[in-house]
Amino acid sequence: RTLGTLRRQVLAWFDANQRSLPWRENRDPYRVWLSEVMLQQTTVAAVVPYFQRFLKTFPTLRDLAAADEQEVLKLWEGLGYYRRARHLHAAAKRIIADHGGKFPADATAVADLPGVGRYILGAVLSQAFEQKFPIVEANSLRVLARLFGYRNDPREGEGRVWVWEAATAVLPEKRIGDFNQAVMELGALVCTPTSPKCPSCPWAKSCIANRDSLQTLIPPPKKPP
Ligand code: ADE
Repeated sequence: RTLGTLRRQVLAWFDANQRSLPWRENRDPYRVWLSEVMLQQTTVAAVVPYFQRFLKTFPTLRDLAAADEQEVLKLWEGLGYYRRARHLHAAAKRIIADHGGKFPADATAVADLPGVGRYILGAVLSQAFEQKFPIVEANSLRVLARLFGYRNDPREGEGRVWVWEAATAVLPEKRIGDFNQAVMELGALVCTPTSPKCPSCPWAKSCIANRDSLQTLIPPPKKPP
């Protein structure tokens, strides 16, 4: 089966099955960025109310940049990983100072912002600007490893290289932001860590883990720290 078929299948599945989430209302880069920073270490269910409260208090990047750090941290209270909030605030100030208040659409400029790693870079460039950048997080990592039957640990060493390459190779030419969200959504709703719902999966017929009944072995259980 060709990659083109896989792309169409997951996008059609996403159109029919995606959850209605507040950050999917539009593609404003500020909203995409804020949601992905919150989602990076926190579950969707926990993020939703924080995202809404945050946007109500700071509707635009300018409002965030003009805020007091204490106020920003207060709104973050309970989400954890407070460094994310400090970076967010610092990045907002930088966008005002260096980019005239307009969220940069250029990969080098975005990567240069505080708190922006590969994941946030790909999330913002693909979802807000339709640029061809992959994103890999816990859900997409599991989906891709199972689909392609990758038996090593995709969280470590050469596995990490493999999974970012796989995520790049599967990207479509159009609807890149939707595609990235579709793979994550598939991982959240269907290709779950335990008891994945393979009969409901648009990729079931192509999936190596499904074919070989390796769902519980791919990805391999996390090594204890
Ligand atoms: N996890 C991280 N980003 C996400 C998104 N945009 N939609 C659903 N789950 C996510």
